[in-house]
Amino acid sequence: MKVLVTGAAGMLAKDLIPCLTEAGHVAFAPPENDLNITKQRAIRSAVDRFEPEVIVNCAAYTKVDQAEREEHLATIINGLAVQNLCLVCQECDIPLVHFSTDYVFDGTKDGPYTVYDQPNPINAYGRSKLLGEKYVLWLLKKFYLVRTSWLFGISGSNFIETMLTLAEKQKEVSVVNDQRGCPTWTQHLSEVVVSLIESRRYGVYHATNSGPTTWFEYAREIFCLAGTGTEVVPITSEQFPTAARRPKNSVLDPFPLPEVLQRDMPSWRQALEAYLSLRKQRSST
Ligand SMILES: NC(=O)c1ccc[n+]([C@@H]2O[C@H](COP(=O)([O-])OP(=O)(O)OC[C@H]3O[C@@H](n4cnc5c(N)ncnc54)[C@H](OP(=O)(O)O)[C@@H]3O)[C@@H](O)[C@H]2O)c1
Repeated sequence: MKVLVTGAAGMLAKDLIPCLTEAGHVAFAPPENDLNITKQRAIRSAVDRFEPEVIVNCAAYTKVDQAEREEHLATIINGLAVQNLCLVCQECDIPLVHFSTDYVFDGTKDGPYTVYDQPNPINAYGRSKLLGEKYVLWLLKKFYLVRTSWLFGISGSNFIETMLTLAEKQKEVSVVNDQRGCPTWTQHLSEVVVSLIESRRYGVYHATNSGPTTWFEYAREIFCLAGTGTEVVPITSEQFPTAARRPKNSVLDPFPLPEVLQRDMPSWRQALEAYLSLRKQRSST
């Protein structure tokens, strides 16, 4: 399949592009200068040039705290630009893969959020991503709307790298223990995207590594596997104020992804282990 990928320089795109190629697809990933998704004409001209059979939108505004000050910009990129993509996909009859976030939920539910649950974002980033979701649902019939969470990838700044950097300077790190979610490796998410586009089973999906955790437990596991010996102190969100509020629970229920793909996503611990060993391998070459 010929696949047009937006946001080529981002963390997810950097893993997705080789993953598509390895699966025998042809990925076109123009730089943002050539494919700025806020410009409908740029999207249309990329489509005319590459004639993709599917578009995967990895472009996004992802600075959760900064979005509180820049909600308009976040909404233009995560909301209105998705309308641009949808209109071109509609015009050219091309399916769209679009990513959304666990942060569209308010976190007040006791159990995992299902694809039936009503979003109710509590921060600007979540509101901007929800608008993007709505355009996909309002405008398209052929779409894969993939919510994911707590991403880490070898080509991006992420929680694991932040923790390992802190561990170089500190013996002890305080990490919030009252937000639950599912860390997700961009490599595993990319493999899911490849399977989904091959399946042609359009719909809304929750794609995360399996098993919930808190940032505190996650940090403890990072230090344990990396062998840094760093102490982790559990704290509350109130003790670690951030510009954006975050949901206390944003665990996503995977149904119907495992049924559709006939497989479960690996656990976040397996993903973390694989990520750390890849990271080690890269630093020694
Ligand atoms: N990261 C997470 O923890 C997380 C969690 C849940 C869901 N998601 C979703 O997963 C998807 C991928 O996230 P990611 O972590 O890979 O994000 P990322 O690393 O921030 O990549 C997004 C890319 O899009 C680019 N971009 C911004 N505005 C653009 C525009 N107008 N046109 C074209 N490109 C543009 C960004 O460039 P600049 O860097 O120059 O702005 C960046 O290279 C996003 O939809 C995100 O909302 C992420």
